[in-house]
Amino acid sequence: MRNTVIVGAQWGDEGKAKITDLLAEYADVIIRYQGGCNAGHTVVVNNETYKFHLVPSGVLYKNKFCFIGAGTVIHPETFLKETEELKKRGVDLSSLKISPLATITLPYHIDIDGISENTSGKNKIGTTKKGIGPTYSDKVGRYGIKVQDLYDEEALNSRLDAILPLKNKILEKVYGSKIYTKDEMIKYCKEYAKIFEPYICSEWVDKLTKSLKEDKKILFEGAQGIMLDIDYGTYPYVTSSNPIGGGAATGSGIGPTHIENVIGVTKAYITRVGEGPFVTELKDETGEKIRTIGGEFGTTTGRPRRCGWFDAVLSRYCVLVGGLTQMAITKIDVLNDFDELKVCTAYKDKRNGKIYKDYPTNINLHNYLEPVYETFKGWKSDISNAKTIEDLPENAKIYLNKLEELVGIPIKIISVGPNRDQTIIIENPFK
Ligand code: GDP
Ligand code: IMO
Ligand code: MG
Repeated sequence: MRNTVIVGAQWGDEGKAKITDLLAEYADVIIRYQGGCNAGHTVVVNNETYKFHLVPSGVLYKNKFCFIGAGTVIHPETFLKETEELKKRGVDLSSLKISPLATITLPYHIDIDGISENTSGKNKIGTTKKGIGPTYSDKVGRYGIKVQDLYDEEALNSRLDAILPLKNKILEKVYGSKIYTKDEMIKYCKEYAKIFEPYICSEWVDKLTKSLKEDKKILFEGAQGIMLDIDYGTYPYVTSSNPIGGGAATGSGIGPTHIENVIGVTKAYITRVGEGPFVTELKDETGEKIRTIGGEFGTTTGRPRRCGWFDAVLSRYCVLVGGLTQMAITKIDVLNDFDELKVCTAYKDKRNGKIYKDYPTNINLHNYLEPVYETFKGWKSDISNAKTIEDLPENAKIYLNKLEELVGIPIKIISVGPNRDQTIIIENPFK
């Protein structure tokens, strides 16, 4: 058993999709376990770019069971658009399935997300406005609608009777927003039932049980990143699900005893979209240079990503809470043209000089923290064609060795460009 989880080990957009796509070739089952269409996952194959939001990034291979798990939230219209576009490009979706237990993002979830963000002033989270927080709030509050509810008229009626009176009061009185009649919601739900019909997998228990018995190789795909985790991220500047390795067990339907590896995907530097603390953020021309060379603009929202130096304090914390066993370092080629590179090894409290080697989870402190850096020489050459570690310049090797040493787990994959083949695989968990 080499079942493997792919987790973002920063604030998202680490290049998880590229690594998922890469390893999916060797897997039998690929399960997306949390998040929704807030995710923007890019895969580049032979210079052709695919952008996924909900569909697992392993879908480009034929005959792999691609499953969208119960831990996800699905916005039907986005799912439809994404699947239609993939079909138009000739991608075979016959083995794409969704869990009947996934929760649906309804129109009012999107309304509420937009209003909350627009009215919260300087306290806004900077969400993707895809209704993620409101959908997960309703799920946990037991006011959600699950995919399976769409196919049982009596159950759906009774769910809507339970949900709508209160939801409409809240929409009208709290948010000053449009309310939804039951007829309107039934109409929407009928549309959604049609959208999901080809994909719903009612036999998922049997399918996953057999996969385990037959020792199939399972790859779990996380969205977002550990620092956006609802419990362990920079709360409240987080998403509303659990991207951590443990989230794979709750969100996929396969328990933790069946997981062996957790690959933490991290950029050779770090980025963040939206609000929230960011100790190594570079608000200067170096940050601008990383953003320009790295193309650091959101896949889902197009917003510029905030950029900074690699943060080993945060990475060590991700090893603990994410359950990471190894790292995949991406976008190292973005650093090709820097004279000097910095890595944050500790935080220092500007007020009293106190040094933090372990990540302080109280974010109220982060305004007062500054990074303690170690500086490295750049390699000043193009590494985007490197196929093996030996092809890397000495200074790149020194940089990577230092990251391994500081974070405390081995680097098993190095990505030197967006294309599938621009990757150095030191060890493949499925081989
Ligand atoms: P994800 O959300 O973690 O899957 O990452 P995104 O797709 O949002 O952002 C990663 C971006 O970096 C995408 O545009 C990828 O094509 C690109 N990318 C991934 N790996 C590399 C790499 O090693 N080098 C470069 N230059 N780009 C990469
Ligand atoms: P992938 O999977 C980067 C961020 C948003 C915001 C916070 C909450 O592509 O890495 P939400 O809409 O989830 O309620 O927003 O989380 N965020 C992401 N940042 N990559 C993502 O996904 C993200 N998904 C959400 O910018 O700060
Ligand atoms: Mg992304």
